Amino acid sequence: MATLLRDTVSFSKQFNDAFPTIVFSAALCTFPAAISYLFLAYYGNAHKSEKPSTLPVPAVESWIPWIGKSVQLMRDPLTFIVESRRKYGPLFEMTTWGSKLIVATDPGMLMSLEHQCKDLNPSTSRVDAFRALTGIHNSERMTEVMGTRIMPVSSKILSPSGTLKSGLMETFNERLMYNFDVLTAELKANGPKTMRLSDFISYHLFCASTNSLFGPTFPFDSYPHYAVISSSIQILHSPMANWPFVARKARRARQGMIDALIKYTEDWWHNGGQIEGVSQLVGQSLIIMKEENLSIEEAAGSLLISLWGALFNVSAMTYWLTAQLLVDEKIYTNLREEAVDKHYMEAPLLESAALETLRTGSVPPPTRSVDADAEIVVDGKRYFFEKGSRIISEMSGYHYNPDVYADPHSFKSERFFDESLPRPKPFGEGHHFCRGMHLAKLEIKSFISHTLKHFSLKVVGSKELPKLKRAGLIPDVLGSDNITLEISLRD
Ligand code: HEM
Ligand SMILES: *[C@@H]1O[C@H](CO)[C@@H](O)[C@H](O)[C@H]1NC(C)=O
Ligand SMILES: *[C@@H]1O[C@H](CO)[C@@H](O)[C@H](O)[C@H]1NC(C)=O
Ligand SMILES: *[C@@H]1O[C@H](CO)[C@@H](O)[C@H](O)[C@H]1NC(C)=O
Repeated sequence: MATLLRDTVSFSKQFNDAFPTIVFSAALCTFPAAISYLFLAYYGNAHKSEKPSTLPVPAVESWIPWIGKSVQLMRDPLTFIVESRRKYGPLFEMTTWGSKLIVATDPGMLMSLEHQCKDLNPSTSRVDAFRALTGIHNSERMTEVMGTRIMPVSSKILSPSGTLKSGLMETFNERLMYNFDVLTAELKANGPKTMRLSDFISYHLFCASTNSLFGPTFPFDSYPHYAVISSSIQILHSPMANWPFVARKARRARQGMIDALIKYTEDWWHNGGQIEGVSQLVGQSLIIMKEENLSIEEAAGSLLISLWGALFNVSAMTYWLTAQLLVDEKIYTNLREEAVDKHYMEAPLLESAALETLRTGSVPPPTRSVDADAEIVVDGKRYFFEKGSRIISEMSGYHYNPDVYADPHSFKSERFFDESLPRPKPFGEGHHFCRGMHLAKLEIKSFISHTLKHFSLKVVGSKELPKLKRAGLIPDVLGSDNITLEISLRD
């Protein structure tokens, strides 16, 4: 992801306690810079006024250069973005940790920017993200093959009709049922079981998703590696990830996961033939990767990236919905009643609750880098976008806009019974919109429906939603979990 995100991650992880001191000393150190900054800003404005047709993107005011509003942004991004939007309009710019960040807050905006400017690029951040996830240093080639060759195939397979025909949901459900049968037998033998809610969700979604993508020969016992990666992705993203002794456990888990995927593909890779039960999605990706002469490590890395993409946001959203129904008895009872006698694809309350989850749930915002100076028209005004800036597309201002969604901060499972209400937009837009949105919704609904049909869930301790932790703008939904779940057979 963006440097901003990386830097804030390491900053917040490492120096949380020393925060005020560091901000203060950073402010002192940058004092000479402040003076030159003010001078340049003045000069810059004077200079720009010669070209009245192009406006600078409205800038969030701050008298601390370099750090700018980073602290407020990190503390409470939702409030910060809603307030800035009110003050500066739907497009504004701010300085964080020395780099310029442009925030686009309205639906359609990122698409329009991309439409007008071909130099908005997700790939720098993507190369970084792929490197962090796989540990493969030279990740450019992998990134390119995924973007140019595998993406078109994925788009086709994951289209609404493609998703239904792909068999992905059948194999997802098959494994989910298998896992739930195992759990049922265990509960019958030993009585109720307690665990962290995020572990429950993460484990079963991992098994179901890997089965649907890779088939039954996937090494499901690699889950512990995945769990470690998932809880330490932020440290893997930070520049410290390559220091000796730091993040050793995370790096080992990452290698463990790559090794498991190499083992899974090895026979096919070297000897050809068939991988039993492999999805068309993964089967075709592997053929492409071989055609493109990727190494088997790179192929395994790319599979890990696909798995991560398919699982990470689905887990976060499923967690959020489950947490909501655990703290609200009424939602739980109604959804369970519906789950018992309706299929998850024909359950109106579940559909509405899933949409409400997509509105209120948190996922990382899409980012772009501006690779060349550009002039872009937004709402009839021509703005100057400076090379090197970053853009984030942040929909929370829209999802929590009271003019669109009344009483936006409460979770209302029946909200989307109102067909006229605009659907939430957590899947991105423009060239890189989410290909897996149909699959994602089906998976979330299937998981919730099957869970409620089989088991009784109860919270141990206080019925409160956890407070969402963030690293910069990246929410860490599963890492914020403090809910202990007691699970028993459905009475
Ligand atoms: C609730 C779950 C999900 C959410 C909220 C979500 C959200 C998003 C968003 C916002 C993007 C755009 C990123 C950008 O513009 O930089 C994206 C991209 C993508 N998503 Fe999802 N996603 C979810 C689940 C899935 C699943 C299950 C799959 C596949 C099985 C998937 C596959 C993809 C792919 C392939 C892209 C990349 C498109 C590109 O780079 O051109 N997503 N997702
Ligand atoms: C892959 O390697 C083969 C054999 O060395 C070569 O013929 C082919 O052109 C290469 N393909 C690509 C896409 O580079
Ligand atoms: C999850 O969703 C965010 C946007 O909401 C997107 O930027 C990101 O690529 C997705 N993550 C994965 C791993 O697909
Ligand atoms: C979880 O966190 C929330 C918010 O900080 C808190 O109100 C709640 O009591 C916590 N629950 C448990 C079981 O610790």
